[in-house]
Amino acid sequence: MAKPSVYVTRDIGPEALAVLKNHCNVTMWHEPMTPVPRDEIIKNIVGKDALLCLLTDNIDAEILDIAGPKLKAVATMSVGFDHMDVHEMKTRNIKVGHTPNVSTDSVAELTVALLLATNRRLLEASEAARNGEWTTWSPFWMCGPSLSNSTVGIAGFGRIGQQVAHRVKAFNLKSLLYHDMFEKKEEAKQLGAEFVPFEELIKRSDFVIATCLLTPETAKMFNDDVFKKMKKTAVFINTSRGGVVDQDALIRALKTKTIWAAGLDVTVPEPLPTDSELFKLKNCVVLPHIASASIEIRNAMAMLAVNNILAALRGEPMPGEVVE
Ligand code: DGY
Repeated sequence: MAKPSVYVTRDIGPEALAVLKNHCNVTMWHEPMTPVPRDEIIKNIVGKDALLCLLTDNIDAEILDIAGPKLKAVATMSVGFDHMDVHEMKTRNIKVGHTPNVSTDSVAELTVALLLATNRRLLEASEAARNGEWTTWSPFWMCGPSLSNSTVGIAGFGRIGQQVAHRVKAFNLKSLLYHDMFEKKEEAKQLGAEFVPFEELIKRSDFVIATCLLTPETAKMFNDDVFKKMKKTAVFINTSRGGVVDQDALIRALKTKTIWAAGLDVTVPEPLPTDSELFKLKNCVVLPHIASASIEIRNAMAMLAVNNILAALRGEPMPGEVVE
């Protein structure tokens, strides 16, 4: 019997590709640092049984139409799936997979690293030292607000939010707050976290951390109004999706010192143009979406994406099926 055919939108590494190639005929976009152009997807998706994509690919109804009726599975090598029209896929009985769980620790780790880099001004201080601005030890030079004895508020208390909570607890906080669509009593009890309305979270927190999914409800939830309600000393950290922030409002808040600083692993657009205001602000740390960037984790994500495809092609449940 002929092997099923799969289009893969980037090189996902030799381990995962070898497994996929054992079971399927694979066509692939080979440029590691360039997203596959849309017309390449359109050219290659016709008649395929499955598509393995990344968060940089916009997979919408047009792509599904062009793929045709053989398409049975779409799997993204990411936890986030806001770049895909999941509803449209489910309507057409196409299985949709993502990579939950495998990157949770890595993203939580980076979130804490970004928080510390932002409040303790690590990048700014290192650059100042390199540029000869380190003329003496000075009482208040390069100071920032402490995490110890502070209130941390986590917006989005899923797997990643909970693992961030678990890590920041070690910093002897005053309070740990969270907000989500639903109260998560058991998990919160174990972490000593208090469920509060979003408005209370932003007003009370010294550190506001966004770890929520990007959905129509969370789009631009961090806007002018929200930044104005935060403390002037607040540090805002985002490792979810750039779309949860009104970026112009954030730039205004940072420029006018409405909030103290921000650390962003995600922006709109990505990559962030080098002339973006965010890069000019000393009170903003920007990382190029690297929260899950550890070798083991990226291999595990690729393998789970492959296993999602293979399971769906066998008619079995995907191990990482998207639950809406
Ligand atoms: C994801 O998996 O969605 C992350 O954003 C990738 O780092």
